[in-house]
Amino acid sequence: MTPGLHGRVALVTGATRGIGAAVARQLADAGARVCVTARDPEEVRRAAEQLGGIGLAGNVADPEHARAAVDLALGEFGRLDVLVNNAATNQPYGPLMDLDPQAWREAFTVNVEAPLRLVQAAWRGWMREHGGSVVNVCTEGAGHVGPNVGAYGTSKAALLHLTRQLAGELAPRVRVNSVSPGLVRTEMARFVWEQGPVDLPLGRIGEPEDVARAVVWLASDAAEWITGADLLVDGGTRVRAAHPGGYAVHDRLRSYAPPPS
Ligand SMILES: NC(=O)c1ccc[n+]([C@@H]2O[C@H](COP(=O)([O-])OP(=O)(O)OC[C@H]3O[C@@H](n4cnc5c(N)ncnc54)[C@H](OP(=O)(O)O)[C@@H]3O)[C@@H](O)[C@H]2O)c1
Repeated sequence: MTPGLHGRVALVTGATRGIGAAVARQLADAGARVCVTARDPEEVRRAAEQLGGIGLAGNVADPEHARAAVDLALGEFGRLDVLVNNAATNQPYGPLMDLDPQAWREAFTVNVEAPLRLVQAAWRGWMREHGGSVVNVCTEGAGHVGPNVGAYGTSKAALLHLTRQLAGELAPRVRVNSVSPGLVRTEMARFVWEQGPVDLPLGRIGEPEDVARAVVWLASDAAEWITGADLLVDGGTRVRAAHPGGYAVHDRLRSYAPPPS
């Protein structure tokens, strides 16, 4: 049993599929009551029902979303102990010289500003007085340069630093950590993994549950003396990058042509 999650309340953004859905499931299995968000209302309703929890349909880019989600969790469950900032976009895709500034701003709104707004709302509504734990989902790719993912990587690198900054500002009341996944079998990364097997030191790409276990552990009291940390959950991708043969994922990012948006 993961310590310190039974009876706690968790808010997970982007929790209707992929990594967020696995996080919400594992938190619920550990005894937490869970509030999930995502944009598609029908998917939110289905996910909340399956978890025995509650849900809010909305876009994290909406400035009102953070307060609405926190208010819902507090109104229904009376507390908010864990926040998992998981929802993100990997758009726009392409060389930085071709990027439209508006699309760049949208990436930063979803991947950086929205997590900050959610932490602010959770802090003001509950955590400043009662404490809590935040886990931000970053990416292994934020640690180095990759083709066509400049906006995504730069915004996630900002989220990584935001994690450390918040950890400093909110201690000792609130712990703030991140996980940095490598390639995981979800919709967001389908265009990479469906091109065929990837050669990683641990022999396979990640499943959402691999990342969720790390998120849940960091959120729990098992990690009570850890803040400002980033946990790589990447099957050894970073290690592979240092070896002859290079970084297979980059070849796929280089050759992929996204559908017109
Ligand atoms: N998969 C990977 O290989 C990988 C690697 C490194 C890091 N990550 C990170 O892991 C996290 C989860 O990604 P994933 O791969 O699980 O993605 P996914 O399978 O595409 O799931 C994304 C979830 O977020 C929701 N969502 C997307 N945009 C949203 C928005 N603007 N507002 C609210 N909800 C939104 C989606 O539902 P709706 O579409 O209905 O909104 C869905 O529930 C992200 O932070 C991503 O950057 C993934």
